[in-house]
Amino acid sequence: MRFDGKVALVTGAAGGIGSASAKLFASKGAKVVVADFNTEAGESVAREIREAGGEAAFFRVDVTDERNVDEMIAFSVERYGGLHIAHNNAGVLHEAKRFHELDLSTWDRVMNVNARALTVCLRAEIIHMLAADGGAIVNTASGAGLAAAPMLSAYVTSKHAVVGMTKSAALEYARDGIRVNAVAPGTVETPMTANMTTKQRDALNERMPLGRMATPEEVAQVVVFLASDEASYVNGAIYTIDGGSSASA
Ligand code: NAI
Repeated sequence: MRFDGKVALVTGAAGGIGSASAKLFASKGAKVVVADFNTEAGESVAREIREAGGEAAFFRVDVTDERNVDEMIAFSVERYGGLHIAHNNAGVLHEAKRFHELDLSTWDRVMNVNARALTVCLRAEIIHMLAADGGAIVNTASGAGLAAAPMLSAYVTSKHAVVGMTKSAALEYARDGIRVNAVAPGTVETPMTANMTTKQRDALNERMPLGRMATPEEVAQVVVFLASDEASYVNGAIYTIDGGSSASA
């Protein structure tokens, strides 16, 4: 899989999964826009890519800000001449709370970043791709977008929304040369899951068919495949990457 001459945008690219996909796209020849609101970590990912011989530029974005999202697309076009691939990956988790105890401000924040902002990014990318030669979009959903995880109701709801919008967009733009897919990772070793205690981590790993969580790189491999020409007939798919967890009853 090669992406020479292609421009790939990754949101949440300062984090675990996003930085892995940004690096993998770059290693396969893409020019990468590393987008995140964490400037220090984002700049460092872009620098790492350049030091490895790739091409990348950091853009500071808050994906919940519509104007800022438009500026991000414009940055990609001005800097690299286009936008062919987008990995919409920025997301947030919330503290574990029962449904009725989760306060509505947390609900709003999680829905705003994970669901509404992803819609905003998708729309802006599609508008650009419709006027250009099409493209490929991969959204980061979650296993929590396909089944409930206890005490994470806002997160679960937001990721179910990502699955819905992925399928809707996939249907509507297939004939415009735009494919839209999603990955649904199980638990991945990233900053998002770093605050588990050793006991929680051991218990979780014990439950996993593979005896461990995924690495961000293992998720990135599927993201890059879905964005590639090799996946030319894959559209509206939600790819589970959970080591087999959801295969068990
Ligand atoms: P992470 O916390 O390392 O990465 C998330 C990134 O999104 C961070 O760099 C953060 O700065 C950025 N971000 C958050 N809000 C933003 C905003 N408003 N504007 C711009 N950037 C923003 O976590 P991880 O695990 O790499 O998460 C990436 C995606 O993967 C998320 O959508 C998450 O929900 C999803 N996911 C993670 C799983 C895990 O076990 N780590 C499992 C399934 C899905």
